[in-house]
Amino acid sequence: MVEAVNKTILITGINGMLGCDLCHALTEKFRIVGVDLRQPVFSCSGTVIGDITDKAFVRRTIRELSPKVVIHTAAYTDVDGCENDPDTAFKINVLGTENVARACAEYGAGMVYLSTDYVFNGKKRRSYKVSDKPCPLNVYGESKLAGEIIVRSLIRNSIVVRTSWLFGPNGRNFIDTIIKAAEKNPKLKVVNDQTGSPTYTVDLAAALRRMVETVFFDRKRGYGVYHITNTGICTWYELAKEALRLRGIKAEISPISTAAAGRPALRPERSVLDNQRYITLTGTALRPWRRALKDYLKTYEQT
Ligand SMILES: NC(=O)c1ccc[n+]([C@@H]2O[C@H](COP(=O)([O-])OP(=O)(O)OC[C@H]3O[C@@H](n4cnc5c(N)ncnc54)[C@H](OP(=O)(O)O)[C@@H]3O)[C@@H](O)[C@H]2O)c1
Repeated sequence: MVEAVNKTILITGINGMLGCDLCHALTEKFRIVGVDLRQPVFSCSGTVIGDITDKAFVRRTIRELSPKVVIHTAAYTDVDGCENDPDTAFKINVLGTENVARACAEYGAGMVYLSTDYVFNGKKRRSYKVSDKPCPLNVYGESKLAGEIIVRSLIRNSIVVRTSWLFGPNGRNFIDTIIKAAEKNPKLKVVNDQTGSPTYTVDLAAALRRMVETVFFDRKRGYGVYHITNTGICTWYELAKEALRLRGIKAEISPISTAAAGRPALRPERSVLDNQRYITLTGTALRPWRRALKDYLKTYEQT
């Protein structure tokens, strides 16, 4: 008798910006169960409410659901918040990740861990390859890097996906903040000395689906670190200008330096990620960020 394939995927942080789009991208082919602190605001077939920093809760949930793969997106993602409260950052991003990784290892689940361009210091003039040595500048980056190290040391069948500058329909993001700010105040100042690749959560979720299918279901190899972002680069200032142009909002935006913005956490100057390993695995690259942004802004017209 052929054994039925286990098609359960557990997504931590299901209520977050990426978690919600992952649920939509995977739900047709897989049985999706979400974990989050609160009930999702959108419809998701099954959600277990709980805290990933509670080891017994995480162990019990993974034992009972027996997922084939856990996609771990839950995190403390407020970069300045992490800087001001390192204990909470390390509790959620490191201890929480360790709880998930240990339970995956104990009950035989594969794991996908979402990480960030902020594990790099941004001093490299070219794109960061997966083999480049991380060197975070802030507490958020340190905590996410510590999570990467734990996942890779505890589970052989794991993937670390670093991404950057997320925007999407389910959650607060830079684009929404800029549009709301410009509607209230037509004079804005935006940082112009940080460069990265904006990434649409809908595109990233589709890429993660392809990767999970390839690595965990078809090939059963290809574990390790990947970088996945939309194609192309810009500064926050350029991103803000393009978003307002596409929305037809007339506002005066002035470029400022990171130093002038005076944020608590240091940010990398150029944290562009080289996606080559992902392209080699799947034969596809994500589309340019400008096209993704245009699609994202269409969701404004639907609400
Ligand atoms: N956003 C970005 O620009 C960006 C860039 C690079 C990488 N990433 C990584 O990508 C992943 C997804 O990011 P995102 O922006 O989608 O995150 P998000 O919107 O902040 O969502 C994270 C979710 O995790 C939940 N959560 C937080 N602490 C938890 C806990 N202790 N137990 C259970 N759930 C908890 C949050 O709930 P509450 O909201 O109620 O706290 C939220 O629903 C993260 O791992 C992040 O580090 C994000």
